[in-house]
Amino acid sequence: MTSRAKTEMQATVRSALRDAMAELHRDNVPSHALAAELLLMHAIGRDRTWIYAHPEEPVAAETARKFFELVAQRGRGTPTQYLTGKQEFWGMEFEVTPAVLIPRPETEHVIEAALGRLGERRRTERLRIADIGTGSGCIAIALAQELPNAEIIATDICAVALEVARRNAKRHDVSERIRFLESNLLDGATQETSDCARRFDLIVSNPPYVARDEESQLAPDVREHEPARALFGGASGTEIYAPLMAQAVEMLRSGGLLVIEIGYGQAERLRALFDDATWSGLRVTEDLAGIPRVLSAERL
Ligand SMILES: C[S@@+](CC[C@H](N)C(=O)[O-])C[C@H]1O[C@@H](n2cnc3c(N)ncnc32)[C@H](O)[C@@H]1O
Repeated sequence: MTSRAKTEMQATVRSALRDAMAELHRDNVPSHALAAELLLMHAIGRDRTWIYAHPEEPVAAETARKFFELVAQRGRGTPTQYLTGKQEFWGMEFEVTPAVLIPRPETEHVIEAALGRLGERRRTERLRIADIGTGSGCIAIALAQELPNAEIIATDICAVALEVARRNAKRHDVSERIRFLESNLLDGATQETSDCARRFDLIVSNPPYVARDEESQLAPDVREHEPARALFGGASGTEIYAPLMAQAVEMLRSGGLLVIEIGYGQAERLRALFDDATWSGLRVTEDLAGIPRVLSAERL
């Protein structure tokens, strides 16, 4: 019997966690202790409190084998979230698969900025919202939770991503207020509504914004595992914003809001797209690292 097989046969919660942490540390996995915990919680179907309350509990050999296989995959670079199939965003749990970007904490600033700028309209108005490039659906679904009066169209160019988003909407019981549309930007919605343009109160988007020549600067876990179409925004990284904003100008009603996430170092370049004849109240929201992360403005 190999020493690995022996370890798996005799594993307890404590030994499994200890061995996994050591293996992930050796493989230079960032936040290796957290990754080991999350994978163990997933493999044995228990929460963190249970794990630390039952260190001597034996782990069944088959469960231990599966757990160490997940640990090995994490060590080779697969993000923990694709192994557990989930990620938290805005206090909600989302299914994630390799077809969708793993929701990032900085994207929560999109939700904060949108809710902050809507102010009282949150409660009083029946809001019509579009989320462009919905991925897992995290932005659309968080907004649907926060805004019970809102009706949302969420688009993505990727049909498989939309399947994940639909399942997440169902999981959070907001399916009846979000329509998912396979579409380039808002093309699908524009075609459907030629007779009632300028109808949205809010358009949000976290589009792909990494420049092609920045690919080598991405962490390997991101570069090799997350979907390229969710990451790359053309040669400069900002190619998608001009067509996206042109559609927003067409589709937002007067007083409607555009809230977009942007990449590192893009704020000045993208501010220039908000001309004074069309937009007012341009604001830049920084993320927790002090990086300008969200631009928002009101359509005149
Ligand atoms: C950065 S990800 C954001 C996903 C999700 N909204 C989030 O914040 O986690 C960008 C998403 O836009 C989609 N996408 C890329 N180009 C698009 C386009 N031209 N039209 C619609 N969606 C697009 C990608 O498939 C991907 O799901």
